[in-house]
Amino acid sequence: MTVTDEIKSRLDIVDVISDSVQLRKSGSSYTGFCPFHPNTRTPAFVVFPNTQTWRCFGACAEGGDLFSFVMKKEGWDFKETLTHLANRAGVELRPADPQDKVQRAVEDKLADLLEGVSDYYSQLLLFAPQAEYARQYVSERGLNDETVSTFKVGYALDSWDACRNHFNMQGYSDEDLEDAGLLTLNEEKGTRYDRFRNRLMIPIRDVRGRIVGFGARTLDPDGLPKYLNSPQTAVFDKSRLLFGLDLARRHIRSERQVVIVEGYMDVMQAWQAGFLNVVAQMGTALTEAQLRLLKRFTKRFILALDADAAGGQATLRSLEVAREVLDRGADARFNARGLVRHEGRLQADIRIVTLPEGTDPDKIIRMDRERWPELIEQAKPVVEYVIDVAVESLDMGDAKAKAAVAEQVLPLIDDVKNPVEREHYRQLLARRLQVDERVLLKVTMPAKPWRSRTAQGRGKKSTGEHQGQDIESKGLVVAISGSSAASDMRRADFLRQCLAYPQVINQVDKQLAQNQQPVVSEADFSRLDDRFLWRQIKGRQSQRPIAAIDDLWDSSEDEFLRERVLDLLTLPDTPESELNRLPDRLVLSVLDWRLERIKSLIAELELLKRETRTQDNPEMHEIYNQQLPELLMQRLGIDRARGAMSATGRRQTGAQNSLHRKLVGTD
Ligand code: UTP
Ligand code: MN
Repeated sequence: MTVTDEIKSRLDIVDVISDSVQLRKSGSSYTGFCPFHPNTRTPAFVVFPNTQTWRCFGACAEGGDLFSFVMKKEGWDFKETLTHLANRAGVELRPADPQDKVQRAVEDKLADLLEGVSDYYSQLLLFAPQAEYARQYVSERGLNDETVSTFKVGYALDSWDACRNHFNMQGYSDEDLEDAGLLTLNEEKGTRYDRFRNRLMIPIRDVRGRIVGFGARTLDPDGLPKYLNSPQTAVFDKSRLLFGLDLARRHIRSERQVVIVEGYMDVMQAWQAGFLNVVAQMGTALTEAQLRLLKRFTKRFILALDADAAGGQATLRSLEVAREVLDRGADARFNARGLVRHEGRLQADIRIVTLPEGTDPDKIIRMDRERWPELIEQAKPVVEYVIDVAVESLDMGDAKAKAAVAEQVLPLIDDVKNPVEREHYRQLLARRLQVDERVLLKVTMPAKPWRSRTAQGRGKKSTGEHQGQDIESKGLVVAISGSSAASDMRRADFLRQCLAYPQVINQVDKQLAQNQQPVVSEADFSRLDDRFLWRQIKGRQSQRPIAAIDDLWDSSEDEFLRERVLDLLTLPDTPESELNRLPDRLVLSVLDWRLERIKSLIAELELLKRETRTQDNPEMHEIYNQQLPELLMQRLGIDRARGAMSATGRRQTGAQNSLHRKLVGTD
């Protein structure tokens, strides 16, 4: 039993909710006024003791379990809610690892020191006579006093030991300073010296606002590196931090998107100009850890990268370079494939905006503040961006160049997780290359097991791609895609509804059985994660909705399963008003995807039969001859069941149901 399960087993949702909402028993449930929307007339808030869930049938139309209620009521995150409820239920949370405590003590000490060091640098910039040039530099770069103070920009003296001496005097040892990344060890001499000298000091904070390191800009026009950053320390890990996030987080939430730029100056300039949802990746490749961090605040990411980093115009123009960018991420800061994969895994919307060559957000905003929102507005989805750049300078008369573009871009499209989007990009690419989309399908066609078997069966030496062409040229277009986008969507919707309303499964199974159709089983799903998920949903054998995803989360050890769960949860569940039609709708979905599968199986078999002469391969022919009638029978059965369902549906709900069938394309 997971901790959440244990807590739930010990607490009664009616008790907990009664603390803050006056509930009245009515039948088997309890009703009251919804605490989440203002209303004192209709008690539309219902708590179901049997399922230990709640739902508002009024304005907010929300519902969930004990955890979601407390989270929503108190505005806590899951961890906080867990701690609170565990305490109330007398369930012991796994005591903090003593190792964690040590780690935290180390971090706290470092944070104190770094805060002090930042004060020190800040005072120097404001007042030290030696900082005259630094102050001039700051004003030349157009940063005003308020910005300098908000970001606590500072100055490190041009000295090998000023910082060290200052903090030794305050009781910090050299080890402390080295742990904080402030000293550098001269290995030969065994001596330590100040890491940051004669630089503009920009504190880098974690998401909570604690200073964890510095980015230090040289004030010497020829100084290298231009920015010297803190080394990796117990608290500073560049790949997990985003500059400016502590300030931007609120605005990222309210603006529902984040703009990711490259540099410190870009963030500070944007902030000063009133663009508050901007963070910097600090010059390195955007990592999954960074994206996950951001995803707590938004799903919409806009990358505003310098032209060189985005591989834009000049760079991507050469396909040779495009290949490198796509395959290996030649420029560590821009890896289209990586982004597309992140996008899929994170269920995020990642867009790219190309900045004019030779500029960066800092320059753009300073030159023409209004230009910035315009540019952001023009951000394109990653795949579209790559297609545009690759096609931009393509000679439409050059067949080989076209083929090369297709070969480069198709793997990227294949990585797109959502089938509808994938299809969209294939069409887009086909249009831009001025070729038929089916031609593109041939380029990517995956070698399916049965195809290779057939190849052997036919005794042909055809391999890989050629084989694909072989089959396609004989007209087997349907079988190639395996499962259509529409069917994938139907399955996703089906699982989504089962998560929300587990009791619907029995109703669906019952109706299928009444129509002489097999009940829903793992075999109905084609994706591995869907199968796992289906098994979990079935395995629960409870009528309890999986409203709180943490339920499933706890038991979904595998990352990939969790991702799919998140995926599904972004789909809408059924509004209460349509719940009575849900079973019918799902039964039709099941029949539809089964029908599609059968059709494509039949098409495959017919083709195989046509192209294999009996004398060449009698066994195979035997199989076809047995299976075809069988499949045709099945198809007939499904057709009949669909007919019966539709007839009932029409009788029951008339026009509305047929509208639904139109929507899901079964008419
Ligand atoms: P840029 O080279 O684009 O610099 O690096 P910038 O931000 O435009 O700097 P200014 O305007 O000349 O002052 C972008 C980011 O890459 C990281 C820094 O985070 C920088 O802001 N970077 C760059 C480094 O960490 N080290 C370097 O040597 C250079
Ligand atoms: Mn710059």
